[in-house]
Amino acid sequence: MSGRIPHSFIDDLVARADIVEVIGRRVSLVKAGRDYKAPCPFHDEKTPSFTVSAQKGFYHCFGCGAHGTAIGFLMNYENLDFVDAVEALAEMLGVEVPREAGSADRRRDGASLYSLLAEADRIYRAALKSNQRAVNYLKDRGLVGLTAKRFAIGYAPDSWDTVLRALGTDETRKRQLLEAGLTNRNEQGKEYDRFRDRIMFPIRDPRGRVIGFGGRLLGEGEPKYMNSPETPVFHKGRALYGLYEARQRGAAGAGRPDEILVVEGYLDVASLAQHGIGPAVATLGTATTVEHIRYLTRIARRIIFCFDGDRAGRTAAWRALETALPHAGGQVELMFLLLPEGEDPDSLVRSGGAEAFRKCMDTAVPLSEFMLGELRSQVDLSSADGRSRLAALARPLLSRLPAGVWRELLTGQIAETIGVGVGALERELEKPVASPQPAGGRTGQDDAGRGADRSRGTLVRRAIGLVLNYPAIVAKLADIPDLSRVEQPGARLLHRLLETVVENPEIVPAQLLERFRDDTEGRYLGRLLDNAPLDTEDAAAAVLQEMLQRIVAEDRKRRLQALLSRPSLSSEERAEIAEIQNYLRNAQGNSGGP
Ligand code: UTP
Ligand code: MN
Repeated sequence: MSGRIPHSFIDDLVARADIVEVIGRRVSLVKAGRDYKAPCPFHDEKTPSFTVSAQKGFYHCFGCGAHGTAIGFLMNYENLDFVDAVEALAEMLGVEVPREAGSADRRRDGASLYSLLAEADRIYRAALKSNQRAVNYLKDRGLVGLTAKRFAIGYAPDSWDTVLRALGTDETRKRQLLEAGLTNRNEQGKEYDRFRDRIMFPIRDPRGRVIGFGGRLLGEGEPKYMNSPETPVFHKGRALYGLYEARQRGAAGAGRPDEILVVEGYLDVASLAQHGIGPAVATLGTATTVEHIRYLTRIARRIIFCFDGDRAGRTAAWRALETALPHAGGQVELMFLLLPEGEDPDSLVRSGGAEAFRKCMDTAVPLSEFMLGELRSQVDLSSADGRSRLAALARPLLSRLPAGVWRELLTGQIAETIGVGVGALERELEKPVASPQPAGGRTGQDDAGRGADRSRGTLVRRAIGLVLNYPAIVAKLADIPDLSRVEQPGARLLHRLLETVVENPEIVPAQLLERFRDDTEGRYLGRLLDNAPLDTEDAAAAVLQEMLQRIVAEDRKRRLQALLSRPSLSSEERAEIAEIQNYLRNAQGNSGGP
């Protein structure tokens, strides 16, 4: 994916970007020694464990393990993909992103998808103005012109080729229309507009670019809503309808809105905005994902998940709860709001006005209360059986909460509900959870955090950590042993890292990270980032030197053992034994031995 932007450019970009400025525009940083600190924007905390090192060009959170370069920060914080983040950073620095010749140009492709989508958006908006039926539909639904304008609502004409004819002016553009999900192709290979006779809601990314559409029929019929398919620029699991518009209102970028409502429908978002409630955002006909939640917890202090009060709504709310658990108990409040049965935010606010909706919002309950309530309703607390079932149901949920006071409180509440001592319940909770957790609830960052703990381990990992964090010390090594034959996890990566640094003596950690971003062996390198200052480079070089020697020596010893345990040996193997013994004797002589 990144191969099409030359590595040298990424290197250069990372070196030139001032990560303190990139992050400082979004998070308020305080200088602490040589580095900068802030409360981590990727998890909730009171004491700042998020540090930014200008010198090394990366950020690292000791709390949650989040880490990366300026590019990685933009990806995580702004929800951008790699190429977009590179583009955004280049824009900040006022440079063009070059492309390697010959390869298909994904970026230009991406750029033309955005521009086609923007053009389609203009076509739909213009069509709305000249279609009275569509205008009447919106009026009937209570939307005023200002709201339609704010959300750039449009209309896809009742025709098979409005967009196709206007925008599919050559074969390339026709192909791109398909790729952008604006057209479809039937079995005969004939292309036609995907959206026909529908009210169109453009969906934007955090930068405000149109990435897809949702289209609603003007009357009854199936499907009521049609959404853009997944495309290179549109990912449903990431996108949130109304987010860009929500952040446009008031002082853009001036801190976090106090609260954000998460609702289910396009019209709910628009209708609430019209009544001065919100901001509200909607998931796009999909369940709330970890990515949604991660993003929302970064921009608001309170998130209110709002669902219909019917069975389907409760199920959806429960799924959102499960996804949100790892983010619970922090600085961001997670609340659940179940509307009266048969109502959605739009119907409620239209029939009762903002007042009625606000009143309803007062019935929102914190995640813990919602969880306990739902659990209680699933069991019969009057029987011992029911009580132990509640403990069993609670166990996997509690185990996904971040450890801390909040989890203890909730455990206490559950213990009280069941009528057992907290100690007994805690012992119960400590038993290993039998089945793995659903994938949705785990985040990469959590994994990274755990990885960092485990990584202290082996010699190879520690050596990788040193090279990654302090590449300059490689130049001070007296001798770089050949690690290419060492059979040990990570040894190849260490070998390649050393090679890269030897070839690029000026390289900084952030550049190394970017080089290995898509690498199967190297993509977890970021876990080994460390902001600890070095006493002296010479001392660190000496440590690394010894580590490398030991890695090779240990490998040779293992090889020797393996050879010696064979029932018979070839003459080559005998020669190898002699060679290894010789090597080990020398190594011991040099370093005093491990
Ligand atoms: P709802 O069925 O609750 O519709 O779908 P709604 O939002 O209340 O819409 P109106 O008021 O009837 O116009 C909620 C959301 O689920 C997705 C859409 O994102 C919709 O806004 N959806 C629904 C689809 O993607 N496809 C469908 O066929 C229906
Ligand atoms: Mn509705």
